[in-house]
Amino acid sequence: MPATILDGKAISQDIIRDVRAKVDARVAAGHRAPALAVILVGSNPASQVYVGNKKRQCENAGITSLAYDLPETTSEADLLALVQKLNADDAVDGILVQLPLPKHIDAEKVIELIDPAKDVDGFHPYNIGRLALKMPLLRPCTPRGVMTLLARTGIDLIGKDAVIVGASNIVGRPQALELLLARATVTVCHSKTRDLADKVRGADIVVAGVGIPNFVKGEWIKPGAIVIDVGINRLDNGKLCGDVEFDVAAERASWITPVPGGVGLMTVATLMQNTYDANVNRKG
Ligand code: GUN
Repeated sequence: MPATILDGKAISQDIIRDVRAKVDARVAAGHRAPALAVILVGSNPASQVYVGNKKRQCENAGITSLAYDLPETTSEADLLALVQKLNADDAVDGILVQLPLPKHIDAEKVIELIDPAKDVDGFHPYNIGRLALKMPLLRPCTPRGVMTLLARTGIDLIGKDAVIVGASNIVGRPQALELLLARATVTVCHSKTRDLADKVRGADIVVAGVGIPNFVKGEWIKPGAIVIDVGINRLDNGKLCGDVEFDVAAERASWITPVPGGVGLMTVATLMQNTYDANVNRKG
């Protein structure tokens, strides 16, 4: 039985519609719309596409987006000063600094300066710490989006064996915390993991986020497993593909996300949820 597709496009549109309805209700009640500052430094083509999508979805969600498109040569001091200014601006609910930053800027320093209450990416050590301690506030967008997709399967996650392939700060590590919070049994695999194929073969849930095309082989997937592919890789022929060998995996899995049309859209929709949440939390 081939897998059912987890349709990130449809689900992300549902989420954005839901945020829009809540924003409209708040605006009708006399509040201002949530506002998200989106900072892009330089002209990385992939980042430009991601930031463009974020601004477009802000419009759909009724969120005000404030664009800060800065030159590649922006100094670290100037970027830190901008973050500080936005922290102090009561009309700004969320601050997003698109990564990667140019090499001369210390990304950790920039992230740590963002007011945790405005950290809609959920990257600040405070927000990661809250998630680790089972008291999440603003949660990293991609892993939260993955949890929304998993919820749509209707499958109970408690006690399930989840294997995450990749241990990045943006995906693998916070995904492990999310799945642990949902009371799955979590294994995080990385470049030094031995017998990766065996680990994946035992998984009821596989989340792949390594950034290598077709890295997770379809034949590793346990029949009936849920497969979530976070990878977005551009092949030489210009096509996008994920980290999982989709066609073979889809023959074995119960549910699977496509690339494109899967997790990527959920990341942006979750950013809208986080910006709405930040606005409500700050205003009470
Ligand atoms: N670069 C790749 N993914 C992300 C993300 O989710 N947020 C930000 N700010 N930068 C990214």
